[in-house]
Amino acid sequence: MTKELTTLSPFAEDVLNGLHTENKHLPSKYFYDAKGDELFQRIMHLNEYYLTRKELEIFQTHKEAILKAINGTETFRIIELGAGDGLKTKVLLKHFMEAKVDFTYTPVDISGNVLEILEGNLKDEIPGLKIESYEGDYFDALAEIAESPEKDIVFFLGSNVGNFTEKEAVAFLSKLQNFLKKGDLLFMGVDLKKDPSIILNAYNDSEGVTREFNLNLLDRINDELDANFNRNQFLHYPYYNPHTGECRSYLISKIDQVVEMMDEEIHFNAWEAIFMEISKKYDHKQLAHLAEASGFDFKQEFLDSESWFADVLWEK
Ligand code: AVJ
Repeated sequence: MTKELTTLSPFAEDVLNGLHTENKHLPSKYFYDAKGDELFQRIMHLNEYYLTRKELEIFQTHKEAILKAINGTETFRIIELGAGDGLKTKVLLKHFMEAKVDFTYTPVDISGNVLEILEGNLKDEIPGLKIESYEGDYFDALAEIAESPEKDIVFFLGSNVGNFTEKEAVAFLSKLQNFLKKGDLLFMGVDLKKDPSIILNAYNDSEGVTREFNLNLLDRINDELDANFNRNQFLHYPYYNPHTGECRSYLISKIDQVVEMMDEEIHFNAWEAIFMEISKKYDHKQLAHLAEASGFDFKQEFLDSESWFADVLWEK
């Protein structure tokens, strides 16, 4: 049977499309298989990867002000998109419980496994916390739950929005905004522009964990899509553009080579690049534009002591 008649998985389709174009690219959302999850956990503990540490500092320093800003007197629900291990969110949840406000925590994740672990941890550490997790796609979750009369606060932390270009971010946040009610809030973590060498080091760490994180997608393609990438023939190259604020990661073919994948041949010229991931950094002008273009009003912003990272609170 020819490929046209076979139904390809979304993963196979995205990979083939990405590698059969003029500027080759692979979607970073596929980084997160079991090995990728583990590598990202390691990245978050690297000294050079300041993002996690800075956001944790913001929560620890400003938890009272954050609660005040989201208005802790009425009942509300926190919907967290891409909850992960909840390490940072826990600081806020604990504080909100101690302040005796009435709220429900709804972590949303595509991985049921992640949610199960998270729920177990939170039940032990924050007794009495009301958790209603949702396994699935972000927008399916919002469509199903955001219409309740309760005030909703969507958490989108960790600079996850950085995986979009500015244009894609506007599209994503506008869509999100559409699911919310007037007065609902978005609490979002964004990485800010800063000394470019600090940014570059975060994506080019000295232990090579980020390099592994990128190469792991080639391994995953080999395992799951019957390909024969030789990871030693690719170079990890992150590049930061201080004008746009885009840090882009590439894997670059060191030689002229042909990679086989599902009965197809993919040719690489020497020094031809695969664009792997965007990690966009914002300045305040771009943030103001992002809020406006996606239908939110700026309400408040919380910064770490060096203004490297921001958690913004926007209102519909
Ligand atoms: C999870 C998207 C926020 O872009 O900083 C970390 C992923 N990639 N190191 C980021 C990532 C390489 C991370 N986000």
